[in-house]
Amino acid sequence: MCGGARRAREGADVTVATKATRPEGSSSWWAQGGIAVSKDDPEQFKQDILTASDGTADPEAVDVLVENANDAVEDVLLETLDVDFDGNGDGHDFGQEAAHSDERILHVDASTGKAIHVPFLNYLDAHENVEILEDTAALELIRHEGQVYGAMLESDGDVTPTFAGATILATGGIGALYPNSTNPVGMTGDGVGMAALAGADVADMEYVQFHPTVCIPDEDDEEDGVFLVSEAVRGEGAHLINGDGERFMPDYHEDAELAPRDVVARAVDTEREATGEVRLDVSTFDFAEQFPDLVELCEDHGVDYREGIPVAPAEHFLCGGVVVDDRGRTSLSSLYAVGETARTGVHGANRLASTSLLEGLVWGLRAGEDAADREIQTMEPPELLNRDPDLPDQFAHEKFRRLRRVMDEYVGLERTPEDLQRAQAVLRRLKGEVDAYVRTRTARSLYELRHASITALLIARAAGENDESVGTHYLAETPEVEAD
Ligand code: SIN
Repeated sequence: MCGGARRAREGADVTVATKATRPEGSSSWWAQGGIAVSKDDPEQFKQDILTASDGTADPEAVDVLVENANDAVEDVLLETLDVDFDGNGDGHDFGQEAAHSDERILHVDASTGKAIHVPFLNYLDAHENVEILEDTAALELIRHEGQVYGAMLESDGDVTPTFAGATILATGGIGALYPNSTNPVGMTGDGVGMAALAGADVADMEYVQFHPTVCIPDEDDEEDGVFLVSEAVRGEGAHLINGDGERFMPDYHEDAELAPRDVVARAVDTEREATGEVRLDVSTFDFAEQFPDLVELCEDHGVDYREGIPVAPAEHFLCGGVVVDDRGRTSLSSLYAVGETARTGVHGANRLASTSLLEGLVWGLRAGEDAADREIQTMEPPELLNRDPDLPDQFAHEKFRRLRRVMDEYVGLERTPEDLQRAQAVLRRLKGEVDAYVRTRTARSLYELRHASITALLIARAAGENDESVGTHYLAETPEVEAD
C-alpha cells in the first residue's frame, strides 16, 4: 500500500494526482516476477541484498526492509487486499530469482504487479477521503525556504496550485530517458526532476539498472512495445544461448543464469555483439504451463517462444533517486518520496530482483503514517507563465529523441569517462534550451522534458564523478591509443 493509501487508512484526506488514465500507466502494474519476503530468515535475505549490491547497500536501510517485509505483506497484501498469490497445495509457492539464496518470492504467474495493483485501486476507490485525479500532471513543487506546500497540477491545459500537509512523490522511474525500457510510457523522471529543482538531495543517480532479458521484437521501431521476460523464467531453469547456439553464462559467473543482474546484462550484451543474438531457451521446463501470461505476450508480439525468445538488456530501474530516511522523508520539510523515485539506500549500486514492490510497500506504509497528521499550510504559488501557449509540436518530441540517443550511447550499460563528459555537455545544452521555453510556456510535454533533462544530467554527472566500476555503474576500459 503506497503512502497515500496509508494516509487514507490513518483518516487523512488524500489527493492522488496521476498522469495515467489506465492502471497500466503505473510501473507497479508491470512488475512480473513478484515480491520477496523474509520468510523465517531476514538475515539471509539481508545478506543477499548486500551481495547483489556489491556491498554498497546501506545495511540499516536493508534492516528496515527485511524486518518489516513479512508484516507488511501479511497486513496489506494478504489481509487488506486479499491478493491471491500462487500456491503449491501446501501453502504459498515461493519462487526463485537471480542472486537469491532461497526461494522466497511470492508471485501471481508473471503478473504479480497487476494482481496487486488492481485490488489496490479498488481499495482506494472505496475510500471517500481519497480523490484520484487522472490525466493530471505535477509540473512543479510549491516551496519556500526548504518547505514544500504542495504542487502545481496541470489537467487539460489548466494549471492549479494544490496545497497539502504532506506531498509524497511516487512517480516511478526513468524509462523515457532510454530508447528501450521495461517501464510504461510516461516515466520521465518527474519526481526526481521536481525534487532536485526544489533543492532536495538526490544520490546514487549513476546506478541505472538494465534488465538482461527484455524482448525487443523490432529494434528499429521505437514505437513497438518491448516486453520483459521475468527473471523468474531463469529461476525455473531457462538458459541463455548465443548466436552460435552455445550456453555462455557458466563462463561468466559460477551462478550462471542466476548471477547478479548487472553481470548477466553485460554478458548478454557482450554475446550479442560477438555472435549477433542471444535467445532465452525455455525448453528446459514446461514454459506454457508455468508462464501462460508470458506465452500470451510472446504471441501478441509475434514471437515463437519454442525457438527461444530473443532478448537484450534494456533500462529497468533507477536504484538511486531522491534521498529519503527510514520514513520516506526527503531533505525538504513536508516532502516525501517512495518507490522507484526514492533512494532509500536499500539497493546501493545494484538492486536484487523482486525487492522493488517490497520497498514501495514498506516505505509507503511508513511514509503514509508519518505524513498523516501534517496540517495544510498555504503560500503564494509560483507563477507559471503561458505567454506562448503554442509549443511547436515537434519540439518536445525531437528533444526527447536526442536525449534518449545520448543516454543510450554514452550513459548505458558500459560507460567511459570521455563519453560521460560528452553526455554532460549535450545534456547541459539541452536543459538550457528547455529552460528557455519553460519561461513562457506551461505545456505538459515541456515540463516532462524539463524533468527528464534534469534527471538525465544528474545521472550523467553522478556517473562522471564516480570512477569506481561497481554494480550497475560499469566503466569499460578505454581502448589505448597506440603511439606512433
Ligand atoms: C523480473 O520479473 O525479472 C523483474 C523483477 C524485478 O525487477 O524485481
